[in-house]
Amino acid sequence: MKRDRGGDARGGRGFSNMLSSFRSSKPGRQQGAADTRAAAADTGAESKKPRYVRTSRDAYIGQAAMGEVNFYARQLTRHEIQRGEHRSFIGGMWDEIGDLQFEFMKQQGLKSHHRFGDVGCGALRGGVKFIPYLDTGNYYGLDINASCIDAARHEIKHYRLEHKHAHLLVDDGFRMGRFDAKFDFCIGVSLFTHLPMNHILRCLLEVQPQLTEDGVFFATFFLADDDPNIFLRSVHQPGGGVVTSFDSDPYHYTLRQVRWLAAQANLTAEEVPWNHPRNQKMIGFRSISQDSTKDGKRDTN
Ligand SMILES: C[S@@+](CC[C@H](N)C(=O)[O-])C[C@H]1O[C@@H](n2cnc3c(N)ncnc32)[C@H](O)[C@@H]1O
Repeated sequence: MKRDRGGDARGGRGFSNMLSSFRSSKPGRQQGAADTRAAAADTGAESKKPRYVRTSRDAYIGQAAMGEVNFYARQLTRHEIQRGEHRSFIGGMWDEIGDLQFEFMKQQGLKSHHRFGDVGCGALRGGVKFIPYLDTGNYYGLDINASCIDAARHEIKHYRLEHKHAHLLVDDGFRMGRFDAKFDFCIGVSLFTHLPMNHILRCLLEVQPQLTEDGVFFATFFLADDDPNIFLRSVHQPGGGVVTSFDSDPYHYTLRQVRWLAAQANLTAEEVPWNHPRNQKMIGFRSISQDSTKDGKRDTN
C-alpha cells in the first residue's frame, strides 16, 4: 500500500518530490565526502590515505543538523513566494487551519493585550488571523526556514498588516528568548508533527522560561496508543489519511512520551479538545510552578 508521508497537504507535490528537490538544492553528506576526495585528488593523494580537508560545506553540514530532519530545510524561491506556493508548502488549508488556530486560542482566553508567540510560524497561516486581533507589536513568530519568513513578510503586505509591527525571527534552535519578551500564550501548529523527540525537547526547554507564570504553550501532535508496536509500525491517523511513524516524518508519540518530554522541561502536558481535520491533537504545556512544587513537598511530608 502506498504510504501517505504528508502530515499536511502540499498542493499535489508529494513528500518524496519535496525531499528530492531539497536534496538537489543543498550540498549533502555524500557531496561533502566527494569534495574531500576531490581535494585529495588535487594534491595527488588519491591513492594514499586521504588527508582530512575541512571544507566550508562541512561547516554547513554541522550547523544544518537541526533542520535536516524534514523537508522544511528546502528554501522557497522568490518566484514561488510570489506565486503563493508557500501556502501549500506549509500544509495548505490556509483559511481553514488559520481560523481553527485563532478560534481555539480565543476560546483558551487569548486577549488583544496578550503577548503571543508562534513557534514554527511558517508563512503566517495562523499569523494573519492573530496579527489584526492582537495589539500592535504583540505577535512574535519564529521559524527555522528563512524563506518561510520571507513568505510571512509577503503575507503581511498582502493583508496590509505592516502597521501592526509583527516580530519575525529566523532561528534554528527555537530561541524564543531572543525576542526579549515573556509570552502569555505560545502556539506550535504542525511543528512537532514533523520533528523527532530530541528536537521537541529542545523546543520545550527554550520556550518554558519565556512563558509568563500562567503562560501556556499549545502545540499539536499526532498521538498513538500506548503500545510497544508503535515504535515499529506506522499508524493510519483517522480523518485526513495521514500515516505516521515513531522515527520518521510525520511523527507520532504517545501521550506518556509527551508528558515525559514536558517533565524534562519543568512543564505539565494535558490534551485539550480541538477539531483538526487531519487528526492532530492539541497539547497544552504549563510550567510546574514553584508554589505547586512546594505544596507537593508539603503533601508528602
Ligand atoms: C506545517 S508548517 C506549519 C506552519 C504554521 N505553524 C502554520 O500553521 O501554518 C511547519 C513549520 O515548522 C517549521 N519548522 C520545522 N522545523 C523547525 C524547527 N526546528 N524550528 C523552527 N521551525 C521549524 C517549518 O519551517 C514550517 O514553517
